[in-house]
Amino acid sequence: MTRANRTIGVFDSGIGGLTVVRALRQLLPGESITYLGDTARLPYGTKSHRTIERYTLQMGEILQRYEPKLIVVACNTASAHGLAALQTASPCPVVGVIEPGAEAAAQVKGAVGVIGTLATVSSASYDDAIHRREPGKQIHSVACPLLVPLAEEGWFDDPITDAIARRYLNQLPFEVKTIVLGCTHYPTLRPSLDRTRPNTQWIDSGEVTAQSVDNLLKGNLGYRTESARGPLRILLTDASNRLREVGERFLGEALGNVELVEL
Ligand code: DGL
Repeated sequence: MTRANRTIGVFDSGIGGLTVVRALRQLLPGESITYLGDTARLPYGTKSHRTIERYTLQMGEILQRYEPKLIVVACNTASAHGLAALQTASPCPVVGVIEPGAEAAAQVKGAVGVIGTLATVSSASYDDAIHRREPGKQIHSVACPLLVPLAEEGWFDDPITDAIARRYLNQLPFEVKTIVLGCTHYPTLRPSLDRTRPNTQWIDSGEVTAQSVDNLLKGNLGYRTESARGPLRILLTDASNRLREVGERFLGEALGNVELVEL
């Protein structure tokens, strides 16, 4: 098979990365995607650097079995702690979600906010990536660990989510008008987030990552040449009926067959 026709491997700590797959399939409907969710070991957002890096390397190794032309680390936490190691180890190019999100954040006027898991915020990866582009940029980051379970519960538009989001987002100064959604789950909570902080420009790291994947394919990786809608293969390290239900909400389409991968 030519390189252009090979699959794009997408990896996440669980099923949240399906929001990134959704953005990829909207922008690049012809591409084949192989999604690997480490549902047996999620969440990554509360774990240490060493563990997240080790898990990321293992996930990259599993995806190599499918001979991807590119690997997308859809998980913000894994991008913060494991991307560099995986880029060194992987025979194919690897992109994460932080650089594209930081690129978009660096281009807006004024101070920016970043919300993510504890591990993402404490890594300061978004701060570093934004400051590499705009050294003087004011960045305010807040870890919002309770938002992940709320998204998994499907409480996207709910007074309880409003109250918790308000508690976190009120920690950001009033002048912050742009906020990076630095976690796979947060784009699903937009109804509550919009209500909590109206007139905010949200940077969806999944959407901007899909654009940067498009640029890589346009460059030397190449687009899949078959005209039919690209296949989506879902691999999980643990599967339950509940995961299917939540996953379909994140993906916005039926999950189809889910394959179990032994760790
Ligand atoms: N996928 C993770 C992220 O984007 C959120 C869930 C987790 O903590 O594993 O940071």
